[in-house]
Amino acid sequence: MNKMWWHKSVVYQVYPKSFYDSNSDGIGDLPGIIKKLDYLAILGIDILWLSPVCVSPMYDNGYDVSDYYAIAPQFGTLEDMDRLIGEAAKRGIAIMMDIVVNHTSDEHPWFIESRSSITNPKRDWYIWRDGATEKLPPTNWESFFTGSAWELDEKTGQYYLHLFGRRQPDLNWENPLVRDEVYRMMRWWLDKGIKGIRLDAIDLISKPERYYDGKDGNTIRGMELWANGPNIDTYLKEMNREVFSLYDVVTVGETSFADTKRAVAFSSPERKEMDMIFQFEHLNLDHEEIDKWERIPLDLVKLKRVMSRWQTELHGKGWNSLYWCNHDQPRIVSRFGSTDPRYRVQSAKMLAAALHLMQGTPFIYQGEEIGMTNAAFDSIEEYNDIDTLNYYTKAVEEHGIERKEALKKINRVSRDNARTPMQWSDEKNGGFTSAEPWLKVNPNCRSINVASALQDKDSVFYFYRKLVQLRRHSPYSDLIAYGDYREFCENNEAVFVYLRTLRDKRILVICSFVEYEVPFSLPFEFKHYKVSVILTNYSDRRELENGMLRPYESIVAELL
Ligand code: GLC
Ligand code: CA
Repeated sequence: MNKMWWHKSVVYQVYPKSFYDSNSDGIGDLPGIIKKLDYLAILGIDILWLSPVCVSPMYDNGYDVSDYYAIAPQFGTLEDMDRLIGEAAKRGIAIMMDIVVNHTSDEHPWFIESRSSITNPKRDWYIWRDGATEKLPPTNWESFFTGSAWELDEKTGQYYLHLFGRRQPDLNWENPLVRDEVYRMMRWWLDKGIKGIRLDAIDLISKPERYYDGKDGNTIRGMELWANGPNIDTYLKEMNREVFSLYDVVTVGETSFADTKRAVAFSSPERKEMDMIFQFEHLNLDHEEIDKWERIPLDLVKLKRVMSRWQTELHGKGWNSLYWCNHDQPRIVSRFGSTDPRYRVQSAKMLAAALHLMQGTPFIYQGEEIGMTNAAFDSIEEYNDIDTLNYYTKAVEEHGIERKEALKKINRVSRDNARTPMQWSDEKNGGFTSAEPWLKVNPNCRSINVASALQDKDSVFYFYRKLVQLRRHSPYSDLIAYGDYREFCENNEAVFVYLRTLRDKRILVICSFVEYEVPFSLPFEFKHYKVSVILTNYSDRRELENGMLRPYESIVAELL
């Protein structure tokens, strides 16, 4: 496999609205990000992924763009963006933009034209259909954000398709003019000096040839028809040819339906589509099939099986992204770790080690590096996320679920868990803003915050920093980036053990996922090896003798 610069890179995701507010309006902004670049430089990351910053009515916080060529005024100006690109570059940090082109906002001029009349030249830029009957939409498809995926537009009497929210109409990728405009826009950003692109919901751009009703069952209706449509590879190859191949850029596609085979097709360098993708299998394990609101306990054996399968099946063929968290997922410590003050720090570090020593490009989501937890607001009024609010209305009004019960589910699952403002200090609003924040700050900012993490050499932050250093620049860099992967103790329900090997170098990663002590012994074949501990989340751990692992203990050891 050809070596690429981003094989040893670590990406940090910023959700601009919640990162740092520089002008006291309660909303994070680009100048705020610039102010915090030194902090990111200490962490040691290479790439900064910005969730969308373009002009948008913010119905879905920027994942609904109304002008691709301008920065949302809440966040700043194009000059701020240029400054951010420049200031980041000075610190060795590249900017990755989040590009949303499966759909636009309903306020995008293209859509305004498209909906204006059936004969408008832009009519065909979106997906319009007649209803199945006078009252029924064209198909029974349901959107990701609850409710029909079709919206009737009174003016022309036709329906438009929106796989996400009602105000996020899907673009018609069949139309070459649409594709040309998208590629032109991407080149415009790359010409500005961005070095990365995250492609939002990109596996949905090619729609099925025929539109028919989806199956009833345990999934969102219609969903099985949407992803990886007949032209998906054609469009991505074209996009690569017209855009990516002309720049030194790293690309990652959000593909919630990809299995490992699909992932190889997307990320294999010879196929020239994308560099890597975000898969969802590992984060789909703690909820019912596709109903993410119905949580079930995590089965560690299943998680290990999924992670190991992605490691081995992409090895030498494609490239993995590695992530636990993003702006759509609840916080990982609250999910696979523990928020109990006795274990929060240890479990956050353990989860970091388990992920960062795998093959692939790791992504850290803002606040993950200090072990931030879920928000758990007491009332639905405190939530902002459109997906959450839609779910609540439907659950309570249509399904008669008790309000308290619905809120309980939301507390665990809502995307707002990840979106509460970054906790910078123990000051008011966690030091995020001096005004009223757009979304409530988690009250635990008094103890969980950047200022205290920076002062404590044993904090989650410094553990992440060590992992970043190990990958980027250490005697283990090549091994972490390119080594083989092998799992041990596959059926152990408490401990995840894997080995990375490159030539005669080996590291063993041992992670306990439980809050009680569990026995552990070195795999028999290493009995005669010398074990040297390189990283651990219990500072008194010096050696790896057979015996007990403490709650959430993690040990990374070289076998010599
Ligand atoms: C992606 C984004 C999510 C957004 C959706 C629609 O899944 O990560 O935040 O709501 O696409 O753009
Ligand atoms: Ca602001």
